[in-house]
Amino acid sequence: MKRIALFFAAAFAGISALAQPQLREDNIEEVLQAMTVQEKVALLVGGPTFDVAGPAGATRAIERLGIPGTILADGPAGLRIDPLRKGTDKTFYCTSFPVGTLLASSWDTALAEEMTTAMGNEVLEYGVDVLLAPGLNLHRNPLCGRNFEYFSEDPLLSGKMAAAYVRGVQSNGVGTSIKHYAANNQETRRDYNDAQISERALRELYLRNFEIAVKEGKPWTVMSSYNRLNGEYTQQSNYLLTQVLRDDWGFDGIVMTDWGCKDGTVASAKAGNDLMEPGRQVEIDRILEAVNNGTISQEELDRNVRNMLKYIVKTPHFRGYKFSNAPDLAAHAKVARKAAEESIILLQNNNGALPLKGTEKVALYGVSSINFLSCGTGSGHVNMAYSVNMQDALSGAGFTLDEELTTYYKAYGQYLEAVRLINGKDYRDDWWNGRKWKDEELPVSAITRQAGNNDLAIIVLNRQAGEGSDRKLDPDFELTGVEQKLILDVSQAYHALGKKVVVILNVAGVVETASWKNKVDAIVLPWTPGQEGANAVTDILTGKVNPSGKLPMTFPLNYVDVPSATNFPDGLGANGDKGKNIDYTKYEEDIFVGYRYYISAGVPVSYPFGYGLSYTEFSYSRPMVKVSGKGEVTATVTVTNTGSVAGKEVVELYISAPEGGLKKPQRELKAFAKTKALAPGESQTITMTLTPYDLASYNQDASAWETAPGTYTALFGASSTDIKATAKFKLAK
Ligand code: GLC
Repeated sequence: MKRIALFFAAAFAGISALAQPQLREDNIEEVLQAMTVQEKVALLVGGPTFDVAGPAGATRAIERLGIPGTILADGPAGLRIDPLRKGTDKTFYCTSFPVGTLLASSWDTALAEEMTTAMGNEVLEYGVDVLLAPGLNLHRNPLCGRNFEYFSEDPLLSGKMAAAYVRGVQSNGVGTSIKHYAANNQETRRDYNDAQISERALRELYLRNFEIAVKEGKPWTVMSSYNRLNGEYTQQSNYLLTQVLRDDWGFDGIVMTDWGCKDGTVASAKAGNDLMEPGRQVEIDRILEAVNNGTISQEELDRNVRNMLKYIVKTPHFRGYKFSNAPDLAAHAKVARKAAEESIILLQNNNGALPLKGTEKVALYGVSSINFLSCGTGSGHVNMAYSVNMQDALSGAGFTLDEELTTYYKAYGQYLEAVRLINGKDYRDDWWNGRKWKDEELPVSAITRQAGNNDLAIIVLNRQAGEGSDRKLDPDFELTGVEQKLILDVSQAYHALGKKVVVILNVAGVVETASWKNKVDAIVLPWTPGQEGANAVTDILTGKVNPSGKLPMTFPLNYVDVPSATNFPDGLGANGDKGKNIDYTKYEEDIFVGYRYYISAGVPVSYPFGYGLSYTEFSYSRPMVKVSGKGEVTATVTVTNTGSVAGKEVVELYISAPEGGLKKPQRELKAFAKTKALAPGESQTITMTLTPYDLASYNQDASAWETAPGTYTALFGASSTDIKATAKFKLAK
């Protein structure tokens, strides 16, 4: 009897061992077949986090089959996890790197890859499998609350930056999640708003940057957005998640929802949304019921599970990577500082105000001089160990700061902090509201006194922003009355003594500049530049670094000039009322976004797309444009540093298409390249190539891309409006 029992026990063990293959890269089908329906569904819905404190979410483990859970954490400016944990005095701070908009201001994909390689190392060493970044929604309107996380108003610059970002992070063997796919261009009612966009504007703008990121970055995952697109939730859109993303672009990773699933869980799973995050039991129940009643077919279920298994076998958790919890934060801080230095934009430098000697006596104005913003708020926030402010950076670099002012701003800042704390605000308040401190009016008598005691004035202004609500015209885009008066009073007092005034825009989004820029001498734009950003700004002010950043979006003269101004909420907040720009937003400007509109319509701007100054000058040679038999265009130009200090130039190639056919913007950015640091007198030849597809426009009537035959003009620009050289070329049918 015993032998029979033993036989059956052995047989059962054998069968169950057969039915319990352990996941490997080469046996996914076998594991798939061995999974129960419950196990398959569990893999499609996010589960409890583990191993790491404070990540955004996780996927579920199925121990029986050797399937580990994996960890998903934010964000675009650096890894975001809890810095402190119960039961240990070890800390888990992460590096706050330049935000996406600053990184894009570098126009340097190699720099982007270098910076995110360091960022990805923190993802790996803190035990995270996927960084929920980059965010790359187009800057359709300057009031979008999350623009700081995103790159640009132009899909090419945005897509190329995103692809480089993905390559850098993923070079560490961890994943990324390009987000928020698609058309999440406002925060007001982001969980419901219906973006109403033409197919052409989608293909040429709002999907184009994701297409470049997918094809040239190969991200492990894509995050579908909260909003609707043309009446359908993106997370339930077969058009977006299967036809475009997979069939057209060849994406082979997984799609996860943003952190909130709609009731249409079944529609999401069927549309190609593989993973529901953060994941609740109700989603498991819905999918299980749909599989049992056939609404979700076995093929659809297995397709999603197969995608999940192919993702899991790539992860450090699957590889059993022994993460150290000790990335080299000191080294990464240096990378963050360098990335900021290479990206900061010099908007104005009149009367040779900059660079400074570095030993001047400086009157440093603005509460932002001590409340220097390293990043925005929300999931794009980073829990960093420290953030340098402008007082520390300038005095650390050798400047002598006016005592009266440093004492005043320190005391005022402490008062504001005390007010915040007595109101019971905790660190998450910073995380969400970013300490919106306001300047108080300074008496002219004090400013006059300080003008006599110092060599120059530096005014720091900041603007905070973050997910969940859009910026308001006033006081986010416009300067406040107190700020305008400070600029006026300081300029009058210092200019009366022949002394200069410099403004630092530490802002999370575009602000109004035209009304006050001619009152001051220099304007430096670091956006929110990471924990080392104040030091990077100082390196620019002293000329230790020659600024080479250029605008990735337009600074309009007035908000009303923005083509989407009448089709955008004025920052009513995430719970605005009903109706236009709340329930739905019409993208009536269609493809005429940013410089595509301003240049085509001849509308003047304060600072144009692609604009940025240097401490040196560059000349451009006669360009050469050749067209191959296959219609490939090769554009060549030689750039020479004709100034007295070394510097880098960004060459921007715009193309004007032949008249006739589809209505097109007067010019569109089709390629760009950044030179190496050129010594005075040194030259570098830049070669950029375009395919017929790069030059194509989307004919939505024919649902096809078409490249018009005829004569094109290549415009080589230092900005979208500062064209240094042109050349014509013909394309055959
Ligand atoms: C947030 C954001 C998304 C983030 C996710 C996880 O709502 O929209 O960007 O990655 O939830 O925190």
